[in-house]
Amino acid sequence: MRARLVAGNWKMHGSRTSNRALLDAVIRGMSEISGVECAVCVPFPYLAEAAVQLARSAVGCAAQNVSEHAQGAYTGEVSAAMLAEFDCRYVLVGHSERRQIFGETDARAAAKFVAAQAAGMAPILCVGETLEERDAGRTESTVARQLDAVLEKAGVAALAKSVLAYEPVWTIGTGRNATPEQAQAVHAFLRGRIAGRNNEIAARLRILYGGSVKPANAKALFSMSDIDGGLIGGASLVADDFLEIVRAAESRG
Ligand code: PGA
Repeated sequence: MRARLVAGNWKMHGSRTSNRALLDAVIRGMSEISGVECAVCVPFPYLAEAAVQLARSAVGCAAQNVSEHAQGAYTGEVSAAMLAEFDCRYVLVGHSERRQIFGETDARAAAKFVAAQAAGMAPILCVGETLEERDAGRTESTVARQLDAVLEKAGVAALAKSVLAYEPVWTIGTGRNATPEQAQAVHAFLRGRIAGRNNEIAARLRILYGGSVKPANAKALFSMSDIDGGLIGGASLVADDFLEIVRAAESRG
């Protein structure tokens, strides 16, 4: 059985003071939860402090982005080796905000995926369609294209040390939800596509759902057979909400 994972994505939120309080509450809450892995993707400047606070806790440290380059004249970029120094277990790759606002291509996301793994971190590869693509019946072709770019560059074996996250763009930060059935259908499609290359890797791969996951809808989403946890934006900024979502993943059993 696949171990559940719930990851918080703080995006560009927080301060040293508010982070400390939030992490403290999440660490405390996680000490009473078992059977679910939990991580938080914190903004770069706070990683060092967060790593110290999270050390020896049940909450993993993670980053929101990484450069595809190892080092060099790339002003403003942060390499995978740098992140690994701060105990980052996971790093988001290809989040829709990176794709849409910062113009990240499928190829770039694939290069970041490879760079993260080369430094010993597990990439959380995000895929998802826009509302326009969904309405045009292009949900599957869109997520397939995003996934295939990584499969081609890294090879299917590389997925064994990664996590996939399906995040329909039209549900991110919008309060709109994919129904559990809509989400499950895409998760099953993604798993099936990977199974076409390697059955075992597909069966073991954790596929998270993200996009306006809240305490009220988490349980129904996590009860679907191919949904192995969540990538949580807004609700991860409120400790009680985030912990309730983690507990919803636990209770799926
Ligand atoms: P949201 O964000 O939960 O605020 O919709 C999810 C994400 O972008 O990872």
